[in-house]
Amino acid sequence: MKKLIAGNWKMNGSVQDNAALIDDISTQIKNDLSLLEHCDFLVCPPHVYLAACVTSTSSDNYVKVGGQDSSAHNSGAYTGETSPAMLKDIGCRYVILGHSERREYHSESDALVHKKAALAHEQALITIICVGETELERDEGREEDVVGQQLLASLPESATSENTVIAYEPVWAIGTGKTASVGDVAKMHSFIRNKLKERLADSENMRILYGGSMKPENAQDLLATPNVDGGLIGGASLKADQFVAIARAAR
Ligand code: PGA
Repeated sequence: MKKLIAGNWKMNGSVQDNAALIDDISTQIKNDLSLLEHCDFLVCPPHVYLAACVTSTSSDNYVKVGGQDSSAHNSGAYTGETSPAMLKDIGCRYVILGHSERREYHSESDALVHKKAALAHEQALITIICVGETELERDEGREEDVVGQQLLASLPESATSENTVIAYEPVWAIGTGKTASVGDVAKMHSFIRNKLKERLADSENMRILYGGSMKPENAQDLLATPNVDGGLIGGASLKADQFVAIARAAR
């Protein structure tokens, strides 16, 4: 399975910076085309910049573009929201759902993530469904209970290995510089793989990404861990050198 190297830009960027970043990433891939045999590349900019980023990536098509969230509704009186149909319309292929920052700052529940994912699948978007425990939950030894519950409650019936990617992101590792140990990641990813078996016929083929302070220095070990099929990368995805270096580490 090719690794998915996915950049979550969060609320960062500008028209100029994004164009330069995409140009830099694409040039580095072009200079090392064998990367594409091992990795798929995705960037998820803020919604307001998505259309411009789709245009910037479309000439060589090395990098796909996705949203960081989408609505649980198709259209109508939902001020500030973006529907999955709109993401599809402008050329997005993916959408991140249930990121811990959405769960924490926007009170998103598993049920809401489930609903959003089902609607995104109707639009043939590939959903990246995020799960992960807090530091307290891990300290209390409840990480598998929490992640297992989030996973099964967030995954809609429409989920297949073709239209869904899971991202395991321990909340305490996001943006903190702390990374889960390779042993912890191996254990959790194997747990997630087994949980997926309860729900899916083709669970072996569903990608499970690791996210949380992934950077070039730790990417090789993390990406070589069994059942780690790529990375969801925040901070390090804003620097082309680091983002592509993570893909090189995957190779
Ligand atoms: P980070 O973010 O790489 O900056 O820790 C990852 C994420 O939140 O997806």
